[in-house]
Amino acid sequence: MNQDRLKKRELKIWHQFYLTNLYLWSNIEWAVSEAIRETAHHPPFVLDVGCGHKPYADLFIECNYKGLDCTRENSSPDILGDATNIPLETATVDIVFTTQVIEHVTDPKAMICECYRVLKPGGFLILTGPFYWPLHEEPFDYHRFTKYGFENLLKQAGFVSWEMKADGGSWAQVFLAINLQLRSRWFIPLWVIFNLIGQFMDKIDHTELSPSNYTMLARKN
Ligand SMILES: C[S@@+](CC[C@H](N)C(=O)[O-])C[C@H]1O[C@@H](n2cnc3c(N)ncnc32)[C@H](O)[C@@H]1O
Repeated sequence: MNQDRLKKRELKIWHQFYLTNLYLWSNIEWAVSEAIRETAHHPPFVLDVGCGHKPYADLFIECNYKGLDCTRENSSPDILGDATNIPLETATVDIVFTTQVIEHVTDPKAMICECYRVLKPGGFLILTGPFYWPLHEEPFDYHRFTKYGFENLLKQAGFVSWEMKADGGSWAQVFLAINLQLRSRWFIPLWVIFNLIGQFMDKIDHTELSPSNYTMLARKN
C-alpha cells in the first residue's frame, strides 16, 4: 500500500470510517495503477462519473482527467451530465472511474451500459459500490449490490473480463456497522477499539460473505 497516499487520505485508527477506507483506498489504488499501466494511449483520457469534489483526482495527475456529475451542488464537474446518458461520443474514453455513485442512480444497468459505450476497445472501467452501507444522501439512495449483482451488470453491458475485490471482509463490516451506529464523537475511544478488533478478526477469520463494499476493474474487449 502506498504510504504517501494513505497519509494524504488521512487514514487514522480513530476515524469512524477507518474499516471501510482501509480496504477501499488500497483497492482503488490497485485498480487505478493497473488501468494506467495497461492502457494503450498516453496520457489516457479518464472520465470520473459522479465525480463529486473529485477526491481521487490526484491519482490521475498524469492523465487527461475530467469529472462528470449531474449537479454542481456539492460537486465540481467539468462536464454536467447524467451517468445514464453520458454526453460523449462512443469509444472516446480510456478509463471510466466511478466510485460510490451506482447506488444513487435509478437505472444502474443503463449507467454501466453507458460506461461501456464511451470506453475505447481495450479501455477500463473502475467501479466501486456498496453491499452494506446505511442510507445516505436520502432520498437518492436506491441500491445495494451483491458480487453477483455487480457481475450481472458488467455482463449485461458487454464486459467479459474483470477482477473484483471485496473492500474488507465480513468482520470488518460487522465492526464498521457498530461504529456507524455510534454516531457521536464521544464514542471515539470505542471507534478505536472496534477498528482494531475488526481489522484483527478480518485477518484471523477472513470471509467475504458480507463486505461493506466492492471494487472492480473491468476491461472492454
Ligand atoms: C456519494 S457521492 C460520490 C462522489 C465521489 N465519486 C466520491 O467517491 O467521493 C455520489 C455522486 O454521484 C452523483 N450522481 C448521482 N446520480 C448521478 C447521475 N445519475 N449522473 C451523474 N452523477 C450522479 C452525485 O451528484 C454525487 O456527486
